[in-house]
Amino acid sequence: MRFRHLTVVAALAAAFPLCALAADPVPAEPAQKPWLDRALNPDQRAQLAVKAMTQQEKLRWVMSYFGNDFGAGKKVAEALVQSAGYTPGTPRLGLPALFETDAGLGVASQSGPKVRERTSLPSGLATASTWDLKAAYAGGAMIGSEARASGFNVMLAGGVNLMRDPRNGRNFEYAGEDPLLAGSMVGQAIKGIESNHVISTLKHFALNDQETGRNELDARIDKAAFRMSDLLAMELALEQSDAGSVMCSYNRVNGPYACENSYLLNDVLKRDWGFKGYVMSDWGATHSTVAAANNGLDQQSGHEFDKSPYFGGALLEAIKTGSVPQARLDDMVVRILRTMFAKGVVENPVKEGGAIDFAKNGAVSRQTAEDGMVLLKNDNRILPLAKTVRTIAIIGGHADAGVLAGGGSSLVYPVGGNAVKGLKPDVWPGPVMFHNSSPLRAIRAQAPNAKVVYDDGTDPARAARVAGQADVALVFATQWVGEALDATSLALPDNQDALIASVAGANARTVVVLENGGPVAMPWLAKVPAVLETWYPGTSGGEAIANVLFGVVNPSGHLPATFPASESQLPRPTPDGDPKQPEMQFAVNYTEGAAVGYKWFDLKGHKPLFPFGHGLSYTTFAYSGLSSQMKDGRLHVRFKVTNTGSVAGKDVPQVYVSPLAAKWEAPKRLAGWDKVALQPGESKEVEVTVEPRVLGMFDESSRTWRIGKGKYKLMLAQDAAGTGASSVTVDLPASTLDVRGRAR
Ligand code: BGC
Repeated sequence: MRFRHLTVVAALAAAFPLCALAADPVPAEPAQKPWLDRALNPDQRAQLAVKAMTQQEKLRWVMSYFGNDFGAGKKVAEALVQSAGYTPGTPRLGLPALFETDAGLGVASQSGPKVRERTSLPSGLATASTWDLKAAYAGGAMIGSEARASGFNVMLAGGVNLMRDPRNGRNFEYAGEDPLLAGSMVGQAIKGIESNHVISTLKHFALNDQETGRNELDARIDKAAFRMSDLLAMELALEQSDAGSVMCSYNRVNGPYACENSYLLNDVLKRDWGFKGYVMSDWGATHSTVAAANNGLDQQSGHEFDKSPYFGGALLEAIKTGSVPQARLDDMVVRILRTMFAKGVVENPVKEGGAIDFAKNGAVSRQTAEDGMVLLKNDNRILPLAKTVRTIAIIGGHADAGVLAGGGSSLVYPVGGNAVKGLKPDVWPGPVMFHNSSPLRAIRAQAPNAKVVYDDGTDPARAARVAGQADVALVFATQWVGEALDATSLALPDNQDALIASVAGANARTVVVLENGGPVAMPWLAKVPAVLETWYPGTSGGEAIANVLFGVVNPSGHLPATFPASESQLPRPTPDGDPKQPEMQFAVNYTEGAAVGYKWFDLKGHKPLFPFGHGLSYTTFAYSGLSSQMKDGRLHVRFKVTNTGSVAGKDVPQVYVSPLAAKWEAPKRLAGWDKVALQPGESKEVEVTVEPRVLGMFDESSRTWRIGKGKYKLMLAQDAAGTGASSVTVDLPASTLDVRGRAR
């Protein structure tokens, strides 16, 4: 049983029960089913199918069921056990049911006795840190294949809420603070998922950027700033993936709830972006019948979480009385069915029990984890460790057993069970889960002749004594966060700052390995020579960590988010809302607008602990020949990257653009990047094509993007702080792009 928020189910008995529908007279199976003709396009097919449906059959598509026993009633029998959702099909017409599973890191399970044990990718932030579009696609393709093999044809992934607050408990599911990076990476992940004929659900639309008070809060933002930040990330992800579905979020946006917000659903998503798929609500995010239906919601998800089965009998009544047009219901169903046809869900039916190659999928997860690890600090090249090291002290973080995962609906239960049992919380959004991939074991395998000792880190003085006797000390620091919770501060929990300081005091060769949900403060940073950010590294995280520590893999991850030096640098040093009163109504005023993350830091002149884009390597890279040109109406930036060190590695050259005349929300924006693999001494020419919307300001009254005439500085650098930077300026003419960013 799982309670994810405080909404009480008013009366399950009032629901639009499946059995009641089943009792309605079912018309005969038609002799012809022209909507199954693949020669027709998905829209034509969906129109034909809806025409053949009874009103009752249509209604079944627009309200789905939680796939788990909600406690107050029984799980609907047809749903896959402990799954997120189920929407009945219309078998008479050859239209299969929808089986829905979370989420962006792999096939998750609702808690209970029959969890599915599956492969988990590292966290979304880890994938984003690869800055590698192909890696994002490969990860999506892998988890989508497991969804299909598990009997699911809808995956509730991927999340692309921008990191406006590093303490947001769900940052680990998302892709950081920059709309271009986050939108592109998540777009590729969704594309990978959908390559399996599985519908993917872009979420949480929109501005569910903190968990505290998520069911009530009103996220307030200037509309143009919204278009250039959170909405831009969603828009790019949608364009690049053609995601079949979008999940509206719990919170309100500038007044109305997201799932009955006509501006969001009708104006932005369906009209401006031309979205042809369907909008599903988050579980417990539907609040009405008429407003939700007329303002753009197409499917009430997990309706047991809502106060009422709004899209059941009440919708039927609303249509009868004319407050919701019949055409709206038809449109909802057309959108769902056209997505099923377009994504190949009808032609490729799912079945539980498909084969899963866990070794192969674990390797995909491991590679993503390796390429997403960010070497934050490496003084005196203390890393990589030599295989000949004699004694290694491993301290804390349950590194003897496994690697940490984040909590909530995205949690993928590990094959073989939880590597560390009994930790709190053990109920939603727990259990606190460790994947069975022990860093200790993997480190021993890398250095078979070394003496490797483990101390659990609960006593800093004892840990220091153990560290003092070793050649090198590796402190594993963890921060567990999860859905429905925000971190209360940037500090590592459980006295780990004191542990690290104590170990560093005893051994000058102390390396901190972080397993965390998002940016943390590091009061001990000056005392340690090396820090490796591993995020939540997933199913094969222990092996991935050992491979990076020993240089089997050269780290190439770069931060997808700024690490603040302290909370005082944030737009909201204290988050809005009171975690102890989750049903209190309040507003979060996103007055920073589009100046999110590094843009805010630039604007305020704050020096972060680590800048956006930062990431070290065991080799070095140099840039030359930076130039730019306009070609086919697009700005192209060219340069050469050379590996100037002595080992192979991958670089992430980043291009930032700053207006010299035009006025933007912040001094610069990320305009593009590449991920380049280079042998020692090797060079490659790189060309980055700049997304035109990144050069413009959105004008809400004309719904256009305006690029101001004048000079712009293009900076090529290794991070947002300008490390290794060179720059050129370019003259751009004034131009206006339509609402979708196309030249007019
Ligand atoms: C989460 C969604 C998830 C849904 C279904 C909600 O609590 O916000 O991201 O897809 O549950 O489990």
